[in-house]
Amino acid sequence: MSIHGKTMLPYIVRKVFEIQHKLYQQQIRACSTGRLQEALKIEEEQEFPKINEIKQPEESSFYYPVDKKFKHDPDIGEQFSYSQLRVRLAGPHQLQPKPEADDLQFGKLFTDHMFKVAYHKRLGGWQVPEIMPLENLVLHPAAKVLHYAVELFEGMKAFRGVDGRIRLFRPEMNMARMNASAQRSGLPTFEPEEFVKCISRLVSIDQEWVPHTESASLYIRPTLIGIEPTLGVASSESALLYTILSPVGGYFAGNSGTSTGVSLLADPQYTRSWPGGVGDRKMGSNYAPTIHVQKEASKQGFQQVLWLYGDDHQLTEVGTMNIFVLLINDRGERELVTPPLNGLILPGIVRHSILNLAREWNQVKVTERKITMAEVKKLVYENRVLEMFGAGTACVVSPIERIFYMNENLLIPTMENSDAVWRTMRNTLLDIQYGRVKHPWAIEID
Ligand code: COI
Repeated sequence: MSIHGKTMLPYIVRKVFEIQHKLYQQQIRACSTGRLQEALKIEEEQEFPKINEIKQPEESSFYYPVDKKFKHDPDIGEQFSYSQLRVRLAGPHQLQPKPEADDLQFGKLFTDHMFKVAYHKRLGGWQVPEIMPLENLVLHPAAKVLHYAVELFEGMKAFRGVDGRIRLFRPEMNMARMNASAQRSGLPTFEPEEFVKCISRLVSIDQEWVPHTESASLYIRPTLIGIEPTLGVASSESALLYTILSPVGGYFAGNSGTSTGVSLLADPQYTRSWPGGVGDRKMGSNYAPTIHVQKEASKQGFQQVLWLYGDDHQLTEVGTMNIFVLLINDRGERELVTPPLNGLILPGIVRHSILNLAREWNQVKVTERKITMAEVKKLVYENRVLEMFGAGTACVVSPIERIFYMNENLLIPTMENSDAVWRTMRNTLLDIQYGRVKHPWAIEID
């Protein structure tokens, strides 16, 4: 039998499938409407808790378990280890000329090698780690990183010390923070010590790229991306952990960051983090939305953005750094204040180190507490703000000399004091990093 020349049986089968498919779709629709009504009913009946106070954690906690064995989710699968590392060295024709240390800018040049290890859940977990000549990545256009910013990174540095030895600064803290970011992004976690050993080997292979000067260093950028080629907003069952290296000078173009202080735009219409968000994780998605605001600041003649949060305009961070304020408090004491790790603040390693050093130093009172623009403004009027500075891996310690806030210029006398706290902190950190003093935070690589 045939209709318009078509054989009847396949035609009937297809029609039956089409009708079944439509019925199935209608069932889904009917079912979802019911669920929606149910959900709305719950919403009417339920009292939702309000966010009015952000949880204040204990002073000086670093959030993540640095000293304990890291606990992975049970379904992560096999871990990679340093003992599995394969090394494929660049051929002589692939080696790039090394730049003059004085010409270095932040993150513009990369060394000859990189580290890479893939993760595939269906293949049992982490695969074999490898060091290889620096190469482009090949990604499927549906890779989750390209659609949902399933990405996180770290910023570390290797320093060539005055004794010629190369050191990393507190790498275990970067690893702890990176695993915390991975957990929040649905990406696989890794064994911190094994990854540090792989990074150290990479630095050791490219050791001639570690600048022979105390005014530059080798920036290390460990990165983790979700590469599963599917568009569902879900954990990425494939991932790539890699590390690239870049010799760097000062973070700010044409300025060591210490001869003059930076000027800041503090515009309360913008914020970089909020309660329950991921402001305390080092994810690429925290940085992209800041670029427009940074451009706005530059257009208005300011170097950086002072990030505020909430109706009371709390200070949170400055540019890509943590912020510190040295002030005279109501009891007449010198107090070094930084906002607490309440979920809005990135737990910076330099931040943590400055708190440790300042507490040990015991010359100023050190507090992690909320500080608002109203307080800063009042104290500036009363000449009780002595210094303000930003702290981070890329910039180390960066003095601040002016804040533009609500149509007013607040002048901060950070640069006016020769024995300033910011300078003491900066020099102490550099002494440790460049091996001028022996310190357990500076880890020598072989
Ligand atoms: C760092 O200080 O390592 C940073 O994360 C800054 C970077 C985003 C440029």
